[in-house]
Amino acid sequence: RAARVARGHGKAFAGFTLNRSAPGPQIRARQGGVVEVTLHNVDVPGGATLHWHGVDVPNAMDGVAGVTQDAVAPGESFTYRFVAEDAGSYWYHSHQISHRQVAAGLFGALVVEPTAPSDQAHDVAVLLHTYPSNSRSINGTVGEIRHEAGPGDRVRVRIANTDNGNTAAWVAGGDFRLLAIDGTEVNEPTPLRDVKVALTAGARADLEVTVPPTGAVRVQAPGVSLVVGPAGADAPEVPSPATFVDPLGYGTPTDLGFDPTSADRTFVYDIGRRPGFLDGRPGYWWTINGNIGMAAPMYMVSEGDVVTMRIANGSGEGHPMHLHGHHMVVLARDGVPASGSPWWVDSLDVDHGQSFDVAFVADNPGIWMDHCHNLPHAVEGLITHLMYDGVTTPFRMGSATGNEPE
Ligand code: C2O
Ligand code: CU
Repeated sequence: RAARVARGHGKAFAGFTLNRSAPGPQIRARQGGVVEVTLHNVDVPGGATLHWHGVDVPNAMDGVAGVTQDAVAPGESFTYRFVAEDAGSYWYHSHQISHRQVAAGLFGALVVEPTAPSDQAHDVAVLLHTYPSNSRSINGTVGEIRHEAGPGDRVRVRIANTDNGNTAAWVAGGDFRLLAIDGTEVNEPTPLRDVKVALTAGARADLEVTVPPTGAVRVQAPGVSLVVGPAGADAPEVPSPATFVDPLGYGTPTDLGFDPTSADRTFVYDIGRRPGFLDGRPGYWWTINGNIGMAAPMYMVSEGDVVTMRIANGSGEGHPMHLHGHHMVVLARDGVPASGSPWWVDSLDVDHGQSFDVAFVADNPGIWMDHCHNLPHAVEGLITHLMYDGVTTPFRMGSATGNEPE
């Protein structure tokens, strides 16, 4: 629904709700279970969709207007149905006019709980979001939220960055471990202290915190926090640590499940910027291998291919790069090989001047967006697709079609 939404002391804004709430309801599924969600668009102008960010769903369920479906117009419905194969932390959001709809509230958390028993007695999902009223929020609340847990309890805190910009999270009142990145478990995560965890746009990080014998533990992000502990217990805020955990060397190496040294396809995704025309509009646009917008050829693969890609950025700004339908493993950053746990991502912050070598297996046929998740940048042309041989789509995008996924 389109609705007036108020947050904190900010002015109410023209926002959106799901089941009359913003963010939308948290969806919890069991690994191996079927997730079925019917999106009914009451009155969201221009239509809406739901994309399951980070979940490697079958292509038809990916929720991208103009690629895998038509935008769901006011008065219409669309039912998504997929098996939650991989446990982990995900989120969902509209992928129609997404630069406006996501910022204004069309998103929510999706958690797939593992079938194996978990080491943590508690499991909390938190969404970091900045609303158009400029209010920073955690699960829709400006300021602080609480989760009750007893002394000695271990708690998994699943943090998702639903904004366009980078953010960070850190812990006051104890050590923590970085259990998972973008829904994939880190192998042998070690205790951390006085460091912060980077969360690029769209990214998730699962932290394990332990409630101390007295008091509480506080998970912080700029302007907001989650206090975990017994009722009434508190942990004072601490300033943001100066350094980040570096996933390139965190945890212990283990088998990737495929061999990236014998790639079937090798691609370059080189991000730049230049003056030119995008859909006939003159401007200073983002480029992919020198091409503006849809002039960039798609990356073509066949099912089963091992793919390596070098993502390089000389565009003057950082970009949170998001590949749909697949997880990529980081092989190297700026030529320095990864030395820790396999670092699997679906949302990767590529700074200006940086390059990443990543690899993945093309095991999910379809047409998949591969774009910048700073959504206004997607509007400015930083979108292409990974496309499998022999796959076509009946859907079309562009303003004349009613489908504007950016
Ligand atoms: Cu979170 Cu293409 O999206
Ligand atoms: Cu960008």
